[in-house]
Amino acid sequence: MNDKFSKIGFILAVAGSAVGLGNAWKFPTLVGQNGGSAFILLYFLLTFLVSFVLFIGEICIGRIGESDPVDSFRRLAPTHKEAWSKAGFFMISGLLIYSFYSVVMGWILKYTITSAFSLPSDMAQSGEIFSALLKDSPVVAIACFSVMSLTCFYIVSRGIKSGIERLNVWMMPALFILLVLMVVYSMSFDGFSKSAKFLLVPDFSALNSKSVLEALGLAFFTLSLGVTTIMTYAASLPERTNILTSSLNIVFINVMIGIMMGLVVFTFIFEFNADPAQSGPGLIFVSLAMLFSKLGAIGHVLAFAFFLTLIFAAITSAISMIEPSVYYLVKSHKISRLRACAIVFAFTYVLGIACILGYYGATADSFSILGTPFFDVLDYATSKILMPIGGLVIVVFVGFVMRKEAVHALLAPYMGELGFKIWYFVLLRCVSPVAIILIALRELGILRI
Ligand code: TRP
Repeated sequence: MNDKFSKIGFILAVAGSAVGLGNAWKFPTLVGQNGGSAFILLYFLLTFLVSFVLFIGEICIGRIGESDPVDSFRRLAPTHKEAWSKAGFFMISGLLIYSFYSVVMGWILKYTITSAFSLPSDMAQSGEIFSALLKDSPVVAIACFSVMSLTCFYIVSRGIKSGIERLNVWMMPALFILLVLMVVYSMSFDGFSKSAKFLLVPDFSALNSKSVLEALGLAFFTLSLGVTTIMTYAASLPERTNILTSSLNIVFINVMIGIMMGLVVFTFIFEFNADPAQSGPGLIFVSLAMLFSKLGAIGHVLAFAFFLTLIFAAITSAISMIEPSVYYLVKSHKISRLRACAIVFAFTYVLGIACILGYYGATADSFSILGTPFFDVLDYATSKILMPIGGLVIVVFVGFVMRKEAVHALLAPYMGELGFKIWYFVLLRCVSPVAIILIALRELGILRI
């Protein structure tokens, strides 16, 4: 297996996984709902105290195990190897996330194409267009979803270097350039200074205990943690890569892009006096799509650039959700990459269609569980249950099960002795598990703070 990343390829691929719809949609939405910049500071703090710790933990498992998730856990567990190898199956959470994520990618594709020609002129019309895509007929949603999903699987079928790395190496810089252009253009609006103030000048009174846990959940999701993605990419890490600086770079790129996305989105929200606390898909597919129309011809260019940026961000993330399972099938079951992709594609395609049919008027009832559409069931099950549990298992494994000497040998050269001790004893063994348990309990409604 010489299919390894180059150093820059690794950084861009992991950054590509991290930067996704989470930054473009969850991040601005949550920032808007939690009063702006104080929430961002909190998100930074939790990213460094918890997510970054877990991120390095996943890198350790991948780098030292050097195999697919199941086999890496098996190799690294000193005892109960078969039982621990099952922890690798958290990769299935990645497939469940992919199933609804690729549906959203389909919506974005549709918006990219149509926004070049027509944009809704008022809020009511914009809401109707979005609702028609979901509820009136599943044909467009299914067609766009199929195109996006086939594209992702095509890339993954090409392998690490000529598929995943190659894509990230041009798509990530392209995304960045598009975003910089949009930020620069936003600067010409009055809304920009309001947006910058909203995102950069902290207002601590807007924070409450709910924000803390919300920020932690976001820090988890945007760094793609708890579903073996980072571990799988780290198994193809080139020798002698400085794990600490690469990880810091990735985390930095991730928050930077979140803020840039936020600046653009909120400039238009403030410019046209829309509601920054508008939730869910509403912010992008309904408000923003309509606000762009107020800019005339340039609005079409901007809308097209904006949705294209989202496509880039989403593709590089989506492929990172399927790669762990594909890699596992190839390594442990010795089947070809193409076949592995076909199997995983079939599984996620069926679930994706079920997500679409759960919103479509005529079939909604059959594709809902206890009145909740299948899409939302998958979203809930993954982000509120499976990801925190997966994260906790990884923290416990690296902090208490793996041989400490192995982890020390990998990290101490980059962190120094003191840095390693703080990371290992304070952050990994105490702060992270407690924080993860708190989010999980609160999300499940067991803890009411
Ligand atoms: N981090 C991505 C985002 O912000 C989403 C993502 C990619 C992800 N891979 C993942 C989330 C694995 C959880 C697990 O959109």
